[in-house]
Amino acid sequence: MSDSGMPLRSSLLFLFLIFATSGATDHIVGDNHGWNPGINYTLWANNHTFYVGDLISFRYQRNTYNVYQVNETDYLNCTTFGAVGNWSSGKDFIELTKAKRYYFICPNLCYGGMKVSVLVHSLPPPPSASASANHNSGGEAVFRRWSEVWKVVFLPLVTYVVWIWFGSGGI
Ligand SMILES: *[C@@H]1O[C@H](CO)[C@@H](O)[C@H](O)[C@H]1NC(C)=O
Ligand SMILES: *[C@@H]1O[C@H](CO)[C@@H](O)[C@H](O)[C@H]1NC(C)=O
Ligand SMILES: *[C@@H]1O[C@H](CO)[C@@H](O)[C@H](O)[C@H]1NC(C)=O
Ligand SMILES: *[C@@H]1O[C@H](CO)[C@@H](O)[C@H](O)[C@H]1NC(C)=O
Ligand SMILES: *[C@@H]1O[C@H](CO)[C@@H](O)[C@H](O)[C@H]1NC(C)=O
Repeated sequence: MSDSGMPLRSSLLFLFLIFATSGATDHIVGDNHGWNPGINYTLWANNHTFYVGDLISFRYQRNTYNVYQVNETDYLNCTTFGAVGNWSSGKDFIELTKAKRYYFICPNLCYGGMKVSVLVHSLPPPPSASASANHNSGGEAVFRRWSEVWKVVFLPLVTYVVWIWFGSGGI
């Protein structure tokens, strides 16, 4: 009786972890160039796929630059009249909570082209279902899905083994 509960509990924990760890990505603006003048952030954005729940992060010299989330008119004009948020820590993590287009600029003039717009998509299907169904999407998308598979399979397995080892009472 006491043993028969184990496999069920283990399976439930395992399933829970699969969902809990299906990963959000942190998109570092400009990759290793960060948030600086003279970088074409349209090219950077085109090279990434953004999903709801992902983070976008800005890394820059604090006190020199900052980040405003603005609306489309502001983005085009490099103004902040319609600002909805601003950050200035030098290492800002912003969660992309909605499936829509986001606009960020460095005020007041988008100095040296410091503006970026990203289109956030609703969540992709689970990796196991999509890994084979998306062969004709971009290389990054395929890579992303495989790294999700890795996270989804590897992390829960380790946790599962540790849990069994220490939690089974059979040490
Ligand atoms: C950035 O690159 C895109 C795509 O090649 C181009 O259309 C755009 O004009 C460039 N922007 C700047 C500011 O150079
Ligand atoms: C796009 O991504 C590829 C692979 O990560 C990278 O080699 C390339 O430099 C990136 N291009 C831009 C414009 O960020
Ligand atoms: C720039 O802002 C002005 C108002 O100051 C507005 O009339 C105009 O439409 C804006 N330009 C763009 C491209 O959005
Ligand atoms: C952006 O915000 C400004 C100021 O509130 C407003 O005048 C403008 O119409 C807004 N633009 C868009 C596209 O919502
Ligand atoms: C910047 O954000 C703070 C809150 O985080 C807000 O109080 C302030 O008004 C914002 N500044 C501008 C210019 O929008």
